[in-house]
Amino acid sequence: MSSMKGKVIAITGGAGGIGEATARMAHAEGASVVITDQKAGPVEAIAESLGDGAVGLAVDVTRREDNQRMVTAALEHFSRLDGVFLNAGIEGEVGPFESRADAAWEKVFAVNVHGVRLGVEAALPALRQAGGGSVVITSSIAGLRGLSGLSPYVSSKHATVGMMRCLAAELGPEGIRVNTLNPGPVENRMMRSIEDQANPSHGKEVKESFTARIPLGRYVTNEECAAMAVFLFSDAASGCNGNTYLVDGGFCAQ
Ligand SMILES: NC(=O)c1ccc[n+]([C@@H]2O[C@H](COP(=O)([O-])OP(=O)(O)OC[C@H]3O[C@@H](n4cnc5c(N)ncnc54)[C@H](O)[C@@H]3O)[C@@H](O)[C@H]2O)c1
Repeated sequence: MSSMKGKVIAITGGAGGIGEATARMAHAEGASVVITDQKAGPVEAIAESLGDGAVGLAVDVTRREDNQRMVTAALEHFSRLDGVFLNAGIEGEVGPFESRADAAWEKVFAVNVHGVRLGVEAALPALRQAGGGSVVITSSIAGLRGLSGLSPYVSSKHATVGMMRCLAAELGPEGIRVNTLNPGPVENRMMRSIEDQANPSHGKEVKESFTARIPLGRYVTNEECAAMAVFLFSDAASGCNGNTYLVDGGFCAQ
């Protein structure tokens, strides 16, 4: 995918499974990357391991000024911004709908919905300045399907699909493409947390029941998700706008 050459991409949740894999893959394909997450240490280490064309920065996506700092870093270090990967997210608490405290709902929405909104708002002037660009929001199969016990998370991920569709309609005429990446269960920390919360002593059984619903018979990998994100940033995806891009092993096919 040489069409990533010269592009500058800012990434949130860059210390997590999907975020780090995407940063590494985009950089390997020739992009410069601003890798951000809540703490500076892990993203600075990733950037250092990549060398030239990579910068690590602490960004809390729930803070408007932090999102702005991410965009400023892209402009200062690499003179432009071509894409943002609004990928930071939290799974929140697992349990019945009515058992969740207000604060639990608010925390999930603050990161998964308002974090995305603030990221888009911060990036737009720079994307316009670049003459267009690509916004990729990490939603989930939980943005397209209900899942028992995960109502705040599922509701927040549906919200990002709605936001993406509005943005795609509004920004398409300016050459700014907006899409969601919708992974199924990924072999990483977040699924371990969901499995262990759903059944504290038998998380493995939860994994087995998820896996039984996936035609490929396994969770997808961080790298398989990253490949879709990188595609959506690349020129190869120039016609892709306003859609949900599943990497789910076939979960949603049935
Ligand atoms: N893991 C899965 O099975 C799965 C499936 C579908 C969608 N997703 C989504 O993929 C995205 C990436 O998750 P992941 O699977 O890599 O899990 P992860 O937990 O490894 O990564 C999430 C990252 O987001 C960061 N983050 C959390 N709150 C933040 C905040 N306020 N500001 C900045 N960063 C913050 C975390 O520090 C973490 O590094 C999330 O949006 C998640 O909801 C994951």
